[in-house]
Amino acid sequence: MDSYLHGFSAEEQNRLQEQADILAPMVFKRVDFSTSTKLLEVGSGVGAQTLQLLTRFPHLHITCVDRSSKQLKEAKKALIGFESRLSFLEQDGCKLAIDERFDAAFVCWTLEHVSEPRQLLARLREHLIPGSKVYLTEVFNASFYVSPGYDGLEKYLANMSAYQKKIGGHPDIGIELGNLLVETGFANVETVFDGFYFDKRKTESKKKYLPYWKELLKSASHNLLNFGYCDSQLLIEVENDFEKLAEDENAIFFYQFVQAKATIH
Ligand SMILES: C[S@@+](CC[C@H](N)C(=O)[O-])C[C@H]1O[C@@H](n2cnc3c(N)ncnc32)[C@H](O)[C@@H]1O
Repeated sequence: MDSYLHGFSAEEQNRLQEQADILAPMVFKRVDFSTSTKLLEVGSGVGAQTLQLLTRFPHLHITCVDRSSKQLKEAKKALIGFESRLSFLEQDGCKLAIDERFDAAFVCWTLEHVSEPRQLLARLREHLIPGSKVYLTEVFNASFYVSPGYDGLEKYLANMSAYQKKIGGHPDIGIELGNLLVETGFANVETVFDGFYFDKRKTESKKKYLPYWKELLKSASHNLLNFGYCDSQLLIEVENDFEKLAEDENAIFFYQFVQAKATIH
């Protein structure tokens, strides 16, 4: 089985760039690295969040770590012009070994794909000096709620979570972040929920974000089809459900992700 839910196609790499842009107002609402200087980003992917960090915090030097050479290659292209503020390392975050210490860390949409998230956080902590600031942002797929009557979409998401668990991932890891951070020795751990809640009061936001959601869910379809977690009929139902969601002003769409903030004693 493919051990990465979304794969590494050019289409997926492009989706990650667009995702970072569209979600930035939520993801970066509370992120403050204004007093940090050397940031470690684990699971930096194609550099989509890195770009957000570089532009928001112009004094930061960022070390991008990803276990995929394909993602790092794309990140280097996407971040041309910022070379003096960047380092790139191909490493598994669970075995992180860098001869350097950092005063900030950022991990986004990554722990859900890591079979040993505790180990990654423990290694991350080893690389941070006292006083460091850490932000983790992760999915909580069990919070997904659509109504009335979106059986296809519900089934697809349930299958996606089942497949992700099967390959060692954690579709609900957001809700675990508090425990994980405390267990791995981080201090001052705080968690907040943010996300999407559309009903007839929010039809404009719904129109804005539904295409993003459709692309996000579709990005797993190749693997779900290949490994028997989805068939062409279910994909048609999902497509129809998205159309219905867009048109039905009574539709309710709800999803929450979790952002954790912590420091090092
Ligand atoms: C969904 S992408 C998110 C990328 C980026 N944080 C963003 O928000 O655009 C997850 C990334 O984590 C990387 N990854 C997964 N497991 C990893 C591990 N154990 N160590 C390092 N990187 C990992 C994948 O290669 C992928 O690039």
